Amino acid sequence: MRVWITGVTGFLGSHLAEHLLACGDQVLGTSRSGRWPPWLNHLRSRVPLLSWDLRRPVPAPVWDAVASFAPQAVYHLAALSLPDRCGSREPTAEALAVNVEGTRHVCQVAWQLSPRPRLLLASSGHVYRSPPRFGYRIDECSPLQPRNGYGRSKLLAERVLGRYAAAGLPAVVVRSFNHAGARQDRHLMLAQWCWQLAAGQERLVVRNRNTWLDLLDVRDAARAYRAVMLQGSPGLVYNVGAGTAVCSGWVLKLLLQCAGARVSVEETSPGLRRNPVADTSRLARHTGWCPRVPLRQTVEDCLRFYQQWAEAFPAAEQVRCSDTPPPPSETASEPRSPQ
Ligand SMILES: NC(=O)c1ccc[n+]([C@@H]2O[C@H](COP(=O)([O-])OP(=O)(O)OC[C@H]3O[C@@H](n4cnc5c(N)ncnc54)[C@H](OP(=O)(O)O)[C@@H]3O)[C@@H](O)[C@H]2O)c1
Repeated sequence: MRVWITGVTGFLGSHLAEHLLACGDQVLGTSRSGRWPPWLNHLRSRVPLLSWDLRRPVPAPVWDAVASFAPQAVYHLAALSLPDRCGSREPTAEALAVNVEGTRHVCQVAWQLSPRPRLLLASSGHVYRSPPRFGYRIDECSPLQPRNGYGRSKLLAERVLGRYAAAGLPAVVVRSFNHAGARQDRHLMLAQWCWQLAAGQERLVVRNRNTWLDLLDVRDAARAYRAVMLQGSPGLVYNVGAGTAVCSGWVLKLLLQCAGARVSVEETSPGLRRNPVADTSRLARHTGWCPRVPLRQTVEDCLRFYQQWAEAFPAAEQVRCSDTPPPPSETASEPRSPQ
């Protein structure tokens, strides 16, 4: 199968590209910069990469390359992916431009291709309202009430996609919960801890040791995306997550064991936090998917990545982990119609 991945140079995009190539797919990729980071050199010769800043409509050379590649499937992953950078309540102008208008621009390209490819949008568990009680799993019919700019921008992107789907574009949405593994941005929980350890910090600064969250290995997520693309029903939404909650303190303990590290730990924002957990029964029912990678493997691989590439990242600075629930807010507003 010929597939086009937007955001192929990112965390999820690069693992997805590896999985698709291993399955025998041909992959074309786009990203904002059109440059591979050094840890993705192995993809350079196998995945043609084009530069397209999605805030703007497709440039002619990119349209020509995509049209002649004639993708049968499009995985739209490119986004401003860090919730902390998308606005605490309303989406920032940048989040709207990349996550919403960018999705519209990708839909326009998919719509104009002949034959039309199937399109998958990477959305997020942040679009849901907080669950009513601990242990409650969120399924795809749960109420939508994003609480931050990121979640709102993703819901708006879903609505853009929905308009194209209603007009006949075969499209599916995946709502991903938290993924982790090698190459994850160092501002997110596990990656941030691995980065600090790899930088040789003797005191590990963590935001919170008592956050319960749904944490799925990125390779399991990549398998889920392909399964949804091939076996999911057009027009439907699929949650992608581990389906169980782990405690951040357990993850930390596992990491310190794997690293053999004797460090002191400073917790900057203690207290119990309970993040939403995905109900993935629709995904399992429609595709047979289930998670395979044990948490220890995820932790080891993330740590190894930061140990191997420590020099590629600036010295550790204190940043917020995204392991806390965003503040409450009301529902997102309607986007503009497709052009
Ligand atoms: N990772 C998770 O736990 C998680 C959970 C829920 C949902 N998701 C969603 O899954 C998708 C992938 O996430 P990720 O963690 O892989 O993100 P990531 O590592 O931040 O990668 C983002 C990708 O998008 C590209 N991009 C950013 N801005 C762009 C722009 N203006 N124009 C074109 N391309 C642009 C980047 O290209 P450059 O490198 O050239 O800037 C990069 O290839 C996102 O839609 C994210 O919201 C992820």
